[in-house]
Amino acid sequence: MSLFAKKPMSVLIAEAADSEKGLKRTLTAGSLVALGIGAIIGAGLFVRTASAAAQNAGPSVTLGFLVAAIGCALAGLCYAELSSSIPIAGSAYTYSYATMGELVAWIIGWDLVLEYAVGAATVGIAWSEYLNNLLINVLHWKPIPYEWCHSPFEKLFDPQTNAVIATGMINLPALFIVSLLSLLLIRGTQESAVVNGLIVITKVAIVILIIVIGWGFINPVNHDTYIPQASTYVDPHGISHSFGGFWGIIGAAGVVFFAFIGFDAVSTAAQEAKNPKRDMPIGILGSLAICTILYVLFAHVLTGVATTEDFRTTGKEASVAFAINKYMLGYGWLGKLVTVAILAGFSSVILVMLLGQSRVFYSMSKDGLLPRVFSEVHPKFKTPYKANLIILVLVGVFAAFVPGDVVGDMTSIGTLFAFSLVCVGVIILRKTNPELPRQFKTPFVPVVPLLGVAACVLMMLGLGWTNWLRLFGWLAIGFLIYFGYSRKNSKLNKGGL
Ligand code: ALA
Repeated sequence: MSLFAKKPMSVLIAEAADSEKGLKRTLTAGSLVALGIGAIIGAGLFVRTASAAAQNAGPSVTLGFLVAAIGCALAGLCYAELSSSIPIAGSAYTYSYATMGELVAWIIGWDLVLEYAVGAATVGIAWSEYLNNLLINVLHWKPIPYEWCHSPFEKLFDPQTNAVIATGMINLPALFIVSLLSLLLIRGTQESAVVNGLIVITKVAIVILIIVIGWGFINPVNHDTYIPQASTYVDPHGISHSFGGFWGIIGAAGVVFFAFIGFDAVSTAAQEAKNPKRDMPIGILGSLAICTILYVLFAHVLTGVATTEDFRTTGKEASVAFAINKYMLGYGWLGKLVTVAILAGFSSVILVMLLGQSRVFYSMSKDGLLPRVFSEVHPKFKTPYKANLIILVLVGVFAAFVPGDVVGDMTSIGTLFAFSLVCVGVIILRKTNPELPRQFKTPFVPVVPLLGVAACVLMMLGLGWTNWLRLFGWLAIGFLIYFGYSRKNSKLNKGGL
């Protein structure tokens, strides 16, 4: 059978009917926006903003947020159409199996591991930074020794002499949090709407507090050259980044794109929306719009309060708490509050990502592209517990042994790649299945999807060649598995679908 064999739409719809039987149309536009914000605000804002300012753009990281938001809005419109015409609680993987065939579906499914599993590791590492901040600044205990909360590829440099003071070994707190949350998922704990609502309110309140209070502490000198002149910044590990100018902003967009990941979660709830045609675009674009406004203002304040140099050195980790504690005198309580809220907020993002990953592996295993163990359900808890355990090993390895910047950028480039394919999927499905009922239609096809592809590819370019190499390496491993296992075992290939 051809590499481009497609899963028949009738099979998908039947599966959808089967798996979604219990779902009721209860979500309003407002609850969809809350769902989006709950999944979106996390490490991207509280950790990656400072990285992007330090390595790529200085204060113009705010413009990077705008570029990333435009890319997400274009891709979001495409997600909304696919999720309303292929009504299964799936993901880009499911959509592409029906539109672009098995090989592309495999590539997306494999690539989504970067979005969900590697993304979960990134947030776990960010959690570890803020845990240390909790120990030092809130509880006034001793910090965890550098060796035990950093990957072997990280070194601590003396700010004065630049000599290496310590080298990482393993990031134990990151490993701890992803393990704890994986076990919770196995028990079948899903965040209730009430907990999600509380976390959303806390996250948004913290961001607004920082913007409002921090505004008065902006030091205009820090914003003097808002868009730094184009140059190259070589980080302490010897990696070069385009800093300043156009490519600085695009690079920053690629980095902070991480902060928007999760809005696609809204699209997976299409069949639970009361009025998908009206509510899906409001849910997706509304949560994006609110986050974009908050992000731009927040980044403006953060880069005004602390300097780019801070974010390259002593303020590299737990950057937001650092900026508050160092520059916003009298607001120590805010620094403490932020730390506690961030630890809770990050946990909910990790939970959503781990859940997303197990759903994707579950679907791939049901289709025969991955071994059956990925879809075996626990007799008592009714969760794909073996998949959760395997995912834990994968996420754990990344969380414990790879630096946060590296996994963060890998998540960004992988997700951007998946988003580009989703945009292409809309154009293809309009041609191959024009008759399919679409509760929501992307406007101006093919212009909007093509602009979406262009924006995603531009941000991928901004992430630099090291990340392209990592992406190609990842896809090469994926091809080995596909041609070694999946192609032979695919149910579609065996005629089982
Ligand atoms: N957007 C999520 C975050 O920033 C993944 O943590």
